[in-house]
Order: sequence, then C-alpha cells, then structure tokens
Amino acid sequence: MQHIQYNDKFLSDFLSDGELESYAPHVAQAEKLLMSKSGPGNDFLGWLDLPKKTGKDTISAINDKAQEIRSKADLLICVGIGGSYLGTKAAIEFLSPAFEDMRKPRVVFAGHTINSDYLADLLELAKDKEVAVNVISKSGTTTEPGIAFRVIRQWMEKRYGREEAAKRIVATTDPDKGALRKLAKEEGYAAFEIPGDVGGRFSVLTPVGLFPIAVAGIDIGKLIAGAAEASDFCSGESIEKNMAGRYAAVRNILFRKGYTTEVMATFQPQLHFINEWWKQLAGESEGKDGTGIFPAGLDYTTDLHSLGQWLQEGLRNVFETFMVLKKTASTITVPKFDDDSDDLNYLASRSFEDINEKAFQGTMLAHLDGGVPSATLMLEDRSEATLGQLFYFFEKAVALSGYILRVNPFDQPGVEAYKKNMFALLGKAGFEKQAEALSGRAKGISI
Ligand code: PA5
Repeated sequence: MQHIQYNDKFLSDFLSDGELESYAPHVAQAEKLLMSKSGPGNDFLGWLDLPKKTGKDTISAINDKAQEIRSKADLLICVGIGGSYLGTKAAIEFLSPAFEDMRKPRVVFAGHTINSDYLADLLELAKDKEVAVNVISKSGTTTEPGIAFRVIRQWMEKRYGREEAAKRIVATTDPDKGALRKLAKEEGYAAFEIPGDVGGRFSVLTPVGLFPIAVAGIDIGKLIAGAAEASDFCSGESIEKNMAGRYAAVRNILFRKGYTTEVMATFQPQLHFINEWWKQLAGESEGKDGTGIFPAGLDYTTDLHSLGQWLQEGLRNVFETFMVLKKTASTITVPKFDDDSDDLNYLASRSFEDINEKAFQGTMLAHLDGGVPSATLMLEDRSEATLGQLFYFFEKAVALSGYILRVNPFDQPGVEAYKKNMFALLGKAGFEKQAEALSGRAKGISI
C-alpha cells in the first residue's frame, strides 16, 4: 500500500499547460543516470537498493542487540552529527510519544553541538539512570562527536568500570577505516558497519539509524518494508509513475522560474525533525557549484504567528510543499461551555484535526493567492511503513533533483572550508600555514 501521496494539481497558476510533461525528459535522463550507476558520485549509491537487500538476518541481528540494550538501559545516549544523528532523531520524534519522559528507554543525543552546558545537563540526567551509548561516525574522525564521546566514555568508565562500560557502548562506523573502528576493536565494543557505498545523509536505513531506532522500540522491519515499497513507486522514467521523479521535476521547474527556496510546511509537531533531516539531505546534496534550492522548514500553525507574514507578503522567491499527516492516533474535541464567554462554542465538539485541516486549507489557499506555488505531500499516518516510504521518497527525489541540477548530490566539498579553518585555529598539526593566515582575522570574531 502507498502511504504517501504527492499532489501538484494546485500549481496550475504557476505552470503552463504541458510544462510538466515537457520537462519529463530531464527526469528520465536523471533516472537513467542514477539507475545505470554512471553519474557523478556513483560510488555512493548503496542506499538505492538497500531496503530490498536488507535481509531478515540483518534486521534480527540489530533487533537482538537492541533488545539486549533495552534490557539493561533506560537511557541511550546517541553520539553523532549530521547524517549520523538526524534520521534517528526524526524517526523517534515521528513515532514516539510527544514527551521524552513517556519514552522507554529514552534516547538522547550528544555530539551534534559543541556546548558544555548541554553535555553537563546530559550527564546530570544520566547519573541516576542505567546508561548505554551508541557512538556513530562513518569517518570515525568528526570533531564534534569525537570530543563528546571522549567525555561520555570517561564518564561511563568511571561509573561502570572499563570492562562493563565497554559492554554498554556500541560503535557504528566504517567496516575497516577510521579512529572509531580502531577504538572499538581495542576496547571490545560491539560494532555495526556502515556500508562504504552509503553516504552519511543517506544512511538512516543502515545501522546508523536502524540500531538506535530499534532500541527506541520501533519496528525496523516495517520501516525497511515501507522503504522497499517506495522504491517501487519511486522508480521508472515516467513522471506519471515515479512519484519522486515528479516531485523533482516540479521543484526544478519552479527553481528555474526564480523560486529558489522550498519551504516544507508541516501542520503536526511530530514532523518537525523529518524536516530537519530533509533539510540536511536536500541542502548538503544540492547546494554546490553556485546552484541549489534552499531547503527551509516551517512548523504550522506555530510559524503562522511569526514567519507566516513573510510567506504571505515577503519576497516571491519561495515555493511551498505542505507535508501533512492524515490520521492522528487520538481525537480530542473542543468542550462546550454554557457561558460561551470566549465565543468558541461554534467550535464545540469539533476535533482538533478538523480545525487543523481548516487551518491547512486556509493557509494553502492564502499562500496560493499570495503568489506562493504550493503542492502537497500527504502522509497516511504515524506508522513505520509511512516513515520508511517517506525516507526513501526524499532520498530518491534529492538524488534525481541533484542530477537535474547537474551537481554531484553525494559529496559535500563545501563542509571542508569551516573544518580546515577550525583545525587551523585549534592548532591541529598540518594546518600551521592556514593558522598563520587566519589568526589576525579571527581575533575580531570572538564569543
Ligand atoms: O552527509 C554527510 O556525509 C555528513 O553530513 C555526515 O553525516 C556528517 O558530517 C557526520 O559524519 P560522520 O558520520 O563521518 O561523523
């Protein structure tokens, strides 16, 4: 069953008759390039058939380890950044109860920021909990998770002793390379492998995401099955059949017309981190060589009381995709009060979802009237199958869109610039020349 539906029928004021159809050859060409594995970055296409290749054995091995961790820990600390963090966070926020205290075990994150207060609070939270750690880094050399893990490892060894700490730490990293693989071997940490041909932001359906998601109690078999289904309805050279291809076509037509920012607008808070994950996926894949659609995320109706003004009347360089959840698990209705002192009795006995739907309809129509090309992405429910389909749909769409934009969607040369500067300023060996060039300029920029 298809749990997600993309709909561009509201774009008639922005696309001329037949425009989408005449753009279809660009999608066909991108699809050909991707599926024949002959395009740029073709050594990072392992994610393409991953859902169909992930066998029961792999899922069982991950589930077994997750079960072991669930039986001995009520707090899992995941250490990672970028693609080694956002997919897990998105899945847990989408599929778990809203408040962290309601989640068992609780999964918290470290290494995605450089901040003593955050880490100190996390260790304070951990002190009366049974703790396990999943340190995730494909390269095994990323600074942010690297320094956070040093602190957490020291804390774990002090708390449990080195031997027991090692039993509570799971590493997810490259099969052979990197400092983390070496450390895992030396310390005897259980370790999962990130396939060499799957890049960070495309890795949520590898052990990077699957293991901590399974620890959170989510059915990873269903997640993978959902992704496998999406690989069917997101394939082929026809935009009538390939939903990811159709979405990629719409994005690029609008981009060429000057709509350079895509706002992914949600109406449910559980979708916030899916947006964060998508922003990384799209932004890091497309934003290079002086081109790329800027991915932005807004949470409605919260943001209708802030950036809604900008969307309605600001610069007309934005198009909007409304990512909306059809079904919620519970239904709360507005109570009736005889005094009706707040004049809200006209909404009595109507559900929050009914009211939210009217907010969605009202917003979309207002934005269309205000000159914002808008399409919808409907999600059936908050299930593993829906999420698996969504993950794959976005991965495929971004890969196609990157090829349409004529960039390599699978590299990220731009992220090296800040890293080189940071290493030079921190005094890392090998960066002496840059350090000399930067030190004077950096003096004026201090915290
Ligand atoms: O998409 C990517 O490759 C990056 O965003 C990485 O996921 C991020 O930089 C973290 O890298 P690593 O897993 O090597 O620590």
